[in-house]
Amino acid sequence: MSDPLAVISLHQDTPELARTYEQFGVIQFNHGKLLLEPLALKSGERVLDVGTGTGRLAEFAAHLVGPSGHVVGIDPLDSRIAIARLRQSTNLAFETGRAEDLSRFAAGEFDVIYFNSVLHWIADKRTVFAQAYRALRPGGRIGLTIQDPTAPHESRVLLRRAVAEAGLDPERLSAHGVHAATEDELRALFEQAGFTGYHSELRTLVETHGSADELLGWSESSAFGNFLDGFSYAEGKKIRAAFAELVEAHRTPQGLRLARYLRYAFARKPD
Ligand SMILES: C[S@@+](CC[C@H](N)C(=O)[O-])C[C@H]1O[C@@H](n2cnc3c(N)ncnc32)[C@H](O)[C@@H]1O
Repeated sequence: MSDPLAVISLHQDTPELARTYEQFGVIQFNHGKLLLEPLALKSGERVLDVGTGTGRLAEFAAHLVGPSGHVVGIDPLDSRIAIARLRQSTNLAFETGRAEDLSRFAAGEFDVIYFNSVLHWIADKRTVFAQAYRALRPGGRIGLTIQDPTAPHESRVLLRRAVAEAGLDPERLSAHGVHAATEDELRALFEQAGFTGYHSELRTLVETHGSADELLGWSESSAFGNFLDGFSYAEGKKIRAAFAELVEAHRTPQGLRLARYLRYAFARKPD
């Protein structure tokens, strides 16, 4: 399991990072649509999007469940929820809140709960799974995407090399994706919480980015202030310059093409 003592800060996000996330968030949105497909949301269903970010995927889910359904998105970051609320509608609501505490919701309130690229930011996954289990109705479905520690994103591998080329220790890059989980760890978490029918697939998602700056902006905004955290401004500048050179090896006529790897995992609460 990941280092439980590694700290992800929820206090370093800024309105600017939230706006950048919204600008480039279509990448995560496309990954999220692949998560919703197997969850097969139906008209009238009640859905919880945990770690909703700026709410783009929740808005899409609200279209799928239609006016008789309802989607709630929660996220601990005020600046992300402020943007998400611009999407609010009669069947779509957003609240600040954390995955570790879903007590505001009634037991069995939701037909579907999902987490799109959220769990690798959370250390206490057992609590999260127990909370989701309680909030799902019997027979309800759960789905998530998460980074796998054995398959780091290509940009992450390059970033480690960039840190080394800047004369710094790549081990200092601990925060991003620090709570990734292996297939075995995930299966155990689902089963310990009581879920059944666990299945998962590690998917390769190839993304095209216009420039190294755009890619770095995307990574920074997805990490809500934890990216290159702990490096000084001058160190950060050196790392970025080294990264911009390294990433050129991935240049194609369409832009910089890099692969990301995400595990898609699904299960359900027994009837
Ligand atoms: C990479 S973003 C994904 C956002 C969104 N799910 C999407 O598909 O665009 C990760 C999100 O996880 C949220 N997050 C981090 N820790 C969390 C926690 N303990 N509970 C719920 N969400 C959390 C962050 O605030 C951030 O918005």
